[in-house]
Amino acid sequence: MKTIFSGIQPSGTLTIGNYIGALKHFQQLQEDHNCYFCVVDEHAITVPQDRLELRRNIRSLASLYLACGIDPEKSTLFIQSEVSAHTQLGWMLQTVSYVGELERMTQFKDKSVNKGKEGVSAGLLTYPPLMASDILLYGTDFVPVGEDQKQHLELTRNLAQRFNNRFNDIFTVPEVSIPKVGARIMSLQEPTKKMSKSDENQKAFISMLDDEKTIMKKFKSAVTDSEGVVKYDKENKPGVSNLLTIMSVFTDESIETLEERYQDAGYGTFKTDVAQSVIAVLKPIQERYYELLESEELDEILDQGAEKANFHANKMLKKAKKAMGIGRAHQKR
Ligand code: TYM
Repeated sequence: MKTIFSGIQPSGTLTIGNYIGALKHFQQLQEDHNCYFCVVDEHAITVPQDRLELRRNIRSLASLYLACGIDPEKSTLFIQSEVSAHTQLGWMLQTVSYVGELERMTQFKDKSVNKGKEGVSAGLLTYPPLMASDILLYGTDFVPVGEDQKQHLELTRNLAQRFNNRFNDIFTVPEVSIPKVGARIMSLQEPTKKMSKSDENQKAFISMLDDEKTIMKKFKSAVTDSEGVVKYDKENKPGVSNLLTIMSVFTDESIETLEERYQDAGYGTFKTDVAQSVIAVLKPIQERYYELLESEELDEILDQGAEKANFHANKMLKKAKKAMGIGRAHQKR
């Protein structure tokens, strides 16, 4: 049995990109592994957030995790800020991180490009050591994420190794686990760009909570090409390839099977069927989501999750403090 950790930011409603790249796999993983799934609210505040909206998004994300099949009997589901070891170890790992390597992170560069160094928070720069802390606190073996997190995972591995060499060999060096199909779902409007929940163009993404009509409309207006052939060719037909990937994941059928099925069909029929396949999966998830959202059950699950996570995280934090020599040798807490 391996230990798995993954996190999602509560910054807006999740898209089917988050689902395909990460969430969908969590349900299967929990059957055979010791899984931790986290609502990473301390990561979300690295960019400005509205306080009430953030609170709503945290609850919403926790409900979505459960509605997508996370079973609290099998997995530990919790909110990052309710386990203070994350920021404590995050700080300690900042002191073994170099400014240069943090400035080279693509996500930092992308988010700060138009704003300059005076326009972005220091937290945006020091985000990766906090992410490393999330992962390393639990002795994680595998981190299931989409492709965009690969660079952060490489840094996490470097920080773990650096810490182990410099202080004491306490951290497991985690492996990244990226899905074979759907590691990078693209925008429906600009299929060479990643689908993102923070895209200003609502038509660019399908939210996990979009209703049937909206899903249908968004797929119908998805950008394709003028060739009229349903064929996977990422270079020349990024729009159609993205739709094929989405349908493949939502129907559990191979891309080849779908290419064959739609070889004589036009884009209109194809797009309608892609939308139907997504609706069929999202409908029951949404029903369960709304049941959970305001329930006491959700609070109970999150309380238990925080308790379990705190127990394990504090043990590792203690070891890390001892390795670095901070605090007292025999402190009670
Ligand atoms: P976040 O919140 O941006 O995304 C959550 C997960 O969704 C994946 N993802 C995608 N996969 C495929 N196609 C897309 N278009 C797409 N967009 C997003 C992401 O790769 C991710 O797996 N830094 C992380 C959160 C985090 C974390 C962690 C993850 C904090 N601590 C520890 C793993 C382990 C992030 O911003 O993900």
